[in-house]
Amino acid sequence: MDNLLFRPITINGLTLPNRIVRSATNEYMTDDDDYVTDRQAALYEELARGGVGLIVTGHSYVKEGGKASKRQAAIYDDRFVPAYKRLLERLRPYDTKIMLQISHAGRQTKPNICGSTPVAPSPVADKTTGIMPRELGPEEIADIVKSFGQAARRARVAGFDGIQIHAAHGYLISEFLSPYTNRRKDEWGGSVENRARFALDVLRECRKQTGNDYPMFVKLQTDDFVEGGLNVEDSAVVARMLEGAGIDAIETSGGIVESFPAACRTGIDSPEKEGFFLSNAAKIRKAVSVPIIAVGGIRSVGVMESIISDKKADLISMSRPFIREPDLVDKLRKGVSTTAACISCNQCWHPHGIRCGQLQKESSVGDA
Ligand SMILES: Cc1cc2nc3c(=O)[nH]c(=O)nc-3n(C[C@H](O)[C@H](O)[C@H](O)COP(=O)(O)O)c2cc1C
Repeated sequence: MDNLLFRPITINGLTLPNRIVRSATNEYMTDDDDYVTDRQAALYEELARGGVGLIVTGHSYVKEGGKASKRQAAIYDDRFVPAYKRLLERLRPYDTKIMLQISHAGRQTKPNICGSTPVAPSPVADKTTGIMPRELGPEEIADIVKSFGQAARRARVAGFDGIQIHAAHGYLISEFLSPYTNRRKDEWGGSVENRARFALDVLRECRKQTGNDYPMFVKLQTDDFVEGGLNVEDSAVVARMLEGAGIDAIETSGGIVESFPAACRTGIDSPEKEGFFLSNAAKIRKAVSVPIIAVGGIRSVGVMESIISDKKADLISMSRPFIREPDLVDKLRKGVSTTAACISCNQCWHPHGIRCGQLQKESSVGDA
C-alpha cells in the first residue's frame, strides 16, 4: 500500500519501516526492584508483531531520587542492562525499532517513591501534592547531567536503536525550561537560553557518551497549560537550540501534572478533536528542519495522513490507542479499521500494569 503512513523514513541512519510510533508509555510492569520484566517484553513483542514502526519505552529514571512512580523502570546503574538486553532479544525477529526514553522526575514525585525530598530548579510546591521540592545546587545539576549521559551509554550497550530524552510533561528537564517552575537567577534561569541550558547539557553529555551516529530524539514540552508556564514561542527557540546541538527528531507534547489531563485529553470522539497539540507541532516544524513527531489524541487514518501531507509533522505517535489495540498499525495497514477504538477515557492507568479499562468493562458485561 503506497500510503504516506507506510513509507519508511531514515533518521540518523535508523530506518523506521513506517511513520507510526508507540509514544512513550510507562507500563508500571517492572518487578519490585525496578527491572524490566518478561511481561513488558511480551507487550513490546505484541506491539512489534502488530507492525508499529517505533516503540518508545516508558520513561526510565536515570538517577535514584529521579523516580516518578512505583513500578517505573530504572536505568541508573549497569546492573539494569542485562534485563533490557533480554527484552530486546524478543524484538529481534521484527522490523520494529525501539528507543529507551530517559527521564528524571524532578519535583513531580514523592519522598516515599524517590527516597528523598524531590528536587527541582526552584522551590515551587507542586499543587497536586503540596510537596515543596529542594532547589538543586550547581554540582548536583552537573551530576544529574552525567547520569543522563550514563543512561544513554547503557541504552546503547543494551542494544536500543536510540534514546528519547524526556523534556516534557513537567519532569526535571521541562521544569528547567519553564518559567513557572524555574525561578533561578543564575545561568540556568531567566532567559529562554538559560532555561534551555540544562536540556542542552543533557543532550551534549548523551552525545559524548554514545557518539554522533546514535539516534537521539527528544520529547519536547511546547506548553505547560499553567499560568506563567512555558509557551510554544519559547519552545520553538529551544527546538532550534536542540537542533543546533545535534538532536535527530522532536516529538511535540505539552501539559504538566498540575494541568492534567492536558497531556492526555479525554473525549476524543471526532476528527475535529484529534491532534490537540498539532498547531504546536506545526509551529515547531517551521522552526527546525529535523523530523517532527506529532502526539496527542491522534486517532484516525484521515487525520494521520493529513498531518503528514499538510507538513504539520513527519511521524505520528500514539499512546492510549495501543493499550487497547497493540495490533492497531496492522489493522490500519490492512484497512480492517480506519480509526483507533480507544475512547480516550484515561482508564488505562493501573499501578500493576497498564490495561484498557474500557475493554475490561465491556468484557465484564453480563458476567454477573
Ligand atoms: C498510561 C500512560 C503512561 C504514559 N507514560 C508516559 C511516559 O512514560 N513518557 C511520556 O513521555 N509520556 C507518557 N505518556 C503520555 C503519552 O506518551 C502521550 O503523550 C499522551 O498519552 C497523548 O497521546 P495519546 O492521546 O495518543 O494517548 C503516558 C500516557 C499514558 C496514558
